[in-house]
Amino acid sequence: MSFTDRTILITGGNAGIGRALAEALLARGNRVIVTGRNPASLAATLAANPGMAGHALDVTDRAALAAFPARLLAEHPDLDTVILNAGIMEAEDYTADAIDLDVAERTIATNLLAPIQLAAALLPHLRARPRAALVTVSSGLAFVPKAGNPVYSATKAAIHSWTQSLRHQLRGTSVTVHELAPPLVATELTPGQSRNPAALPLGAFIDEVMVLLSRGTVPDEILVERVLFQRKAETENRYAAAFAAINR
Ligand SMILES: NC(=O)c1ccc[n+]([C@@H]2O[C@H](COP(=O)([O-])OP(=O)(O)OC[C@H]3O[C@@H](n4cnc5c(N)ncnc54)[C@H](OP(=O)(O)O)[C@@H]3O)[C@@H](O)[C@H]2O)c1
Repeated sequence: MSFTDRTILITGGNAGIGRALAEALLARGNRVIVTGRNPASLAATLAANPGMAGHALDVTDRAALAAFPARLLAEHPDLDTVILNAGIMEAEDYTADAIDLDVAERTIATNLLAPIQLAAALLPHLRARPRAALVTVSSGLAFVPKAGNPVYSATKAAIHSWTQSLRHQLRGTSVTVHELAPPLVATELTPGQSRNPAALPLGAFIDEVMVLLSRGTVPDEILVERVLFQRKAETENRYAAAFAAINR
């Protein structure tokens, strides 16, 4: 079912892909609730988008994340769609004498544990809705890793795997499960990335995603044209070339 007339939660909806998606979904008449960690950009997002609701939430704060669903559902009992978008991407160097494991820990906490915890808390509610959807956000790097970001790439591969299992388990329920796998998109996910000429402009990415979300049957995997290079690398027998292109 297309993403119209829904009540949608988007984590990390105060910046980048999450904010752009929140604005596009709001413009289509959905009710949209965003969460964000940075109070200033959350306030700016809400000020720029009358009708959008928002909550401050650091998804790595396990106590705050555990308390959030009850508050969310009390305010938005018609919630039927959850987009688990919040994420971070940092570099790691395993050739260094002292490897900084803090990066690995916060990347796994943000990109993997938080979506699992939030999905677990919200799925009983979603299953009780007549029509519901859960959307995970992986990456093209789930399919061909970027060696400079080993744990980031691994969390996205894990999200891809986890999403497939959820989809299978929930196949007899009202909840459809989708995976949005962006290619390199011009946001500030990494410093300066929004000015990288190789990145897909954010507006073009969102336009393509909205076409897919507007289909009568939204695909299991929400894949824009640019990400097929990575998504299909293995099945098209060009994995080594794709790995080399990403890791020059
Ligand atoms: N841009 C790309 O090239 C690309 C490619 C593939 C996949 N993705 C994925 O797309 C998603 C969005 O990334 P983006 O490109 O839009 O990056 P972004 O502009 O940096 O946005 C990331 C969002 O996640 C939120 N976030 C990060 N850590 C958080 C935490 N601990 N608690 C709560 N919110 C947190 C940020 O909130 P604050 O600003 O408040 O910290 C921000 O809203 C991520 O999952 C990313 O891995 C992006």
